[in-house]
Amino acid sequence: MNKIGICGAGLIGASWAIGFANSGFKCFVYDESEDSFTKFKDLAIKLIQDLRIINPETDEEKINSNIKLNCTIEETCNNSILVQESVLEDLELKKSVFAQLDKLTPENTIIASSSSYLLISRISELVKHKHRCINAHPALPPHIVPFVEVSGGVNTDPKIIKQAISIYKKAKYAAITVNKEAEGFVLNRLQGALLNEAVRLHEGGFASMEDIDIALKHALGLRWAFMGPFEIMDLNAPEGIKDSFTRYRKGIQNLAKEQNSVPEYSDEYLNKLEMDQRNRLSYDQRDKRVEKRNKMIALIRKLKFELGEDI
Ligand SMILES: NC(=O)c1ccc[n+]([C@@H]2O[C@H](COP(=O)([O-])OP(=O)(O)OC[C@H]3O[C@@H](n4cnc5c(N)ncnc54)[C@H](O)[C@@H]3O)[C@@H](O)[C@H]2O)c1
Repeated sequence: MNKIGICGAGLIGASWAIGFANSGFKCFVYDESEDSFTKFKDLAIKLIQDLRIINPETDEEKINSNIKLNCTIEETCNNSILVQESVLEDLELKKSVFAQLDKLTPENTIIASSSSYLLISRISELVKHKHRCINAHPALPPHIVPFVEVSGGVNTDPKIIKQAISIYKKAKYAAITVNKEAEGFVLNRLQGALLNEAVRLHEGGFASMEDIDIALKHALGLRWAFMGPFEIMDLNAPEGIKDSFTRYRKGIQNLAKEQNSVPEYSDEYLNKLEMDQRNRLSYDQRDKRVEKRNKMIALIRKLKFELGEDI
């Protein structure tokens, strides 16, 4: 009852495997590329170090013994309670992988997609047993960011969503339910709103990339690590959330009117972003920055745990 299949062992699949294995699940990992397993082994060492920051008693041997790499797709599917599909973000590929997983898994296995934007109603179009298909979208990187949002499609059985939430909670993820199927779910709708506005501000010449990043990391982000927008608004005015929205409603509504254009994301603009960002961080320094990012996230998790704010 604790076997998880991981289909696709890239950035997200590898991180899922470490997260599930750390919570005592047995992970059977399949990827069509041999190369991904070589990368997996090097990556796992670093990911386990991140977990050690949160909990110094993290047992590396236990994690490794809970993960079986280089599985065939049949081994990954056989008797798994849940298969976490984490292949590339491509609708046609995911549709064919889901059809395959549907044929190879027992009928009570949950089939979950890590997709960031694609809807499960589309991904499961070729599947016979659609009632057990869900989106289960994690946040990067899922070995240390304890979040997953679960969403069903038009044919998903609501009982399957409940079962999936209970599995993710057992694996120590804060699992939320997305009640209506919507592109981008909750996480990427929030993130997308912010990214679009960052680009509007930058492209419109209101502020530099550096200054927009500063506004996030030295202001909003400090609160967002432990409070959501509704909790923040509740503390923003003496009488609470209603007082807060009443005071600022006109201003917030005026912004909404200005914030509804769709940025073009032209190749020319993206080339400029790439060039400017490489001047801030050279390409070969990015891996070190990823390591630092993971270390910072783990340290924030540790602090949240000590202050009673972790999941
Ligand atoms: N990267 C992120 O920030 C992030 C966050 C949340 C969710 N996701 C989602 O996770 C999924 C995977 O993204 P990623 O960043 O890990 O990509 P990735 O490119 O790092 O990994 C994809 C893996 O899928 C494998 N693959 C491709 N076709 C396959 C097949 N037919 N069978 C088995 N394996 C196959 C590839 O060999 C590769 O190892 C995507 O749907 C993405 O939207 C990504």
